[in-house]
Amino acid sequence: MSNMKISSFEEYHQVYKHSIEQPEEFWAGIADNFQWRKKWDNVLSWNFKEPNIKWFEGAKLNITENCLDRHLETLGDTPAIIWEPNDPTENHRVLTYKQLHDKVCQFANVLKNNGVQKGDRICIYMPMLPELAIAVLACARIGAIHSVVFGGFSAQSIADRIKDAECKVVITADGGFRGTKDLPLKSVIDDALVQCPSVKRVIVLTRSRTPVSMIKGRDVWWEDEIKKVETQGNPECPAEEMDAEDMLFILYTSGSTGKPKGVVHTCGGYMVYAGYTFANTFQYNPGDVYFCTADIGWITGHSYIVYGPLSQGATTLIFEGIPTYPDAGRFWDIVEKYKVNILYTAPTAIRSLMSFGLDPLKDKDLSSIKVLGSVGEPINEEAWHWFDDHIGYNKAPIVDTWWQTENGGHMITPIAGITPTKPGYATLPLPGIQPVLVDENGKEIEGNGVSGNLCIKFPWPGILRTTYGDHERCRLTYFATYENMYFTGDGCLRDDDGYYRITGRVDDVLNVSGHRIGTAEVENAINMHSSVVESAVVGYPHDIKGQGVYAFVVSPNQHGGDAELNKKDIIMTVQRIIGPIAKPDKIQFVSGLPKTRSGKIMRRILRKIAEGDTANLGDTSTLLDPSVVDEIKAGAL
Ligand code: WTA
Repeated sequence: MSNMKISSFEEYHQVYKHSIEQPEEFWAGIADNFQWRKKWDNVLSWNFKEPNIKWFEGAKLNITENCLDRHLETLGDTPAIIWEPNDPTENHRVLTYKQLHDKVCQFANVLKNNGVQKGDRICIYMPMLPELAIAVLACARIGAIHSVVFGGFSAQSIADRIKDAECKVVITADGGFRGTKDLPLKSVIDDALVQCPSVKRVIVLTRSRTPVSMIKGRDVWWEDEIKKVETQGNPECPAEEMDAEDMLFILYTSGSTGKPKGVVHTCGGYMVYAGYTFANTFQYNPGDVYFCTADIGWITGHSYIVYGPLSQGATTLIFEGIPTYPDAGRFWDIVEKYKVNILYTAPTAIRSLMSFGLDPLKDKDLSSIKVLGSVGEPINEEAWHWFDDHIGYNKAPIVDTWWQTENGGHMITPIAGITPTKPGYATLPLPGIQPVLVDENGKEIEGNGVSGNLCIKFPWPGILRTTYGDHERCRLTYFATYENMYFTGDGCLRDDDGYYRITGRVDDVLNVSGHRIGTAEVENAINMHSSVVESAVVGYPHDIKGQGVYAFVVSPNQHGGDAELNKKDIIMTVQRIIGPIAKPDKIQFVSGLPKTRSGKIMRRILRKIAEGDTANLGDTSTLLDPSVVDEIKAGAL
């Protein structure tokens, strides 16, 4: 397993060179560190035109054999999962590799008993419990395709995702705890399922024991189903043999247009990439306790709570709650309690904890920390230094990992303790990754001290294969903007030393607290409100969230004439249609939007106004009605 790990900066340069000159040989060498039922006939075949990308064709495997079975002999009694509850007075739980293996097999048998077959799509909507990881792995065990939906999405968003993938089964819990909140998960699922005839079965885990409706013939309790499996007396569940290019999971993510798309990852390439990046970036050593604070509902949780760490025999900590409950010292209590060695979190969490000052850190022993990680959005230098000074005591390297749902794993990142770090920089590509910067015409910008749009010019095993049910959308979104390149949607700078700094999205996607939100999606939701004629949504700098959501709304006939109440109605509409994560932070009612004569909204102007940068709005003479700009400027919030 450790044969993949780079051990010096010098070796990094050698390995990187090899990975570019002989990519197939390089990746075959990495893939040799995993367990295959049968090895590949062909390492890679690809074109970015269609696109058609296949890794390790002809190989057979099951990812759960790599995450569980292969560790049983050596690590059977080692903790695989440590679970810390929302309420610090509740008991924590530890599952060894042996116990996790047994629980995954058991639940895989539950799925089989409930009619789940290889290739079926399963929606998972659960709180951060070991059972969420168990559900994910049980699907993978039998070749069912999981689609995990983050707990912050509304019934409507879940329904859209279930319908798109035609899911047959939903796995959920009665409710969940996050901070002081009780999340009524089953009730949200019930609302979603009104629209979803494909769902034949709902498996409900007991967590909060909040009252729930259980529909005869459709809904069953997780615990009852486990009992049935126990009385059947067959604790094993042989892993289904999968082709390397069989689908492993779908994960929905937002883009600049229309509805969220289902990013598809496949078994072989994803496994290799998640395991390779986990081992290298964090330089995990046996016995280390690793804590990633993301939710399993996002790609970070898929790759760096479940598949990456488990494939490497690591101990992965799952936390049910939030950083500020019961107080802003919670993360540090957890670090101290379990002697966490590697802490991987998000800039928004760091900024939020920074705002409480240093009091919550008093008397906390963080000396176990060896490596810190950041993900999800650009980390500002102030947050970087606070993290470095107060959490890492200036001795733990910070790995600022740049990557995307579509990438499967880290792309540009320091390797902890091996390659240099630089505040605000994701620094250098991992071996195997070939980033390029291009100008608007798609021409590669060479040399250092330059910036442009970030593309990748050669495939890696974790690249998305398609968007579920709509391959053309995949082509158009990622492979059509620039010929023969994967386009990331991010702007990027390469400094004089050749280090990369991600500057943010160049498309209409916002990054709010590290969550990707398409402005078009929020506009669609706002426009569904009965009094709204049209709207335009842009981002603006927000101290904690990174970006906030600013909505300009045309709504001439407001109910009751009370603007504040109407704003609340609009916010409630967005919450219903998308979920609380997309709620606008600011709503400004305007009489019209700045449009060109051809009817296109000039977002550039709105963005500047939202940012408070109204001195230089650029050329407004092409606008249909330049006077609306003055009105909008005057009313800016
Ligand atoms: C942004 C999250 C700067 C970026 C893993 C990307 C980052 C989007 C970083 C993907 C980082 C992620 N520095 N920006 N270290 N990591 N991003 O799909 O804009 O939820 O395109 O994947 O987050 O978000 P996603």
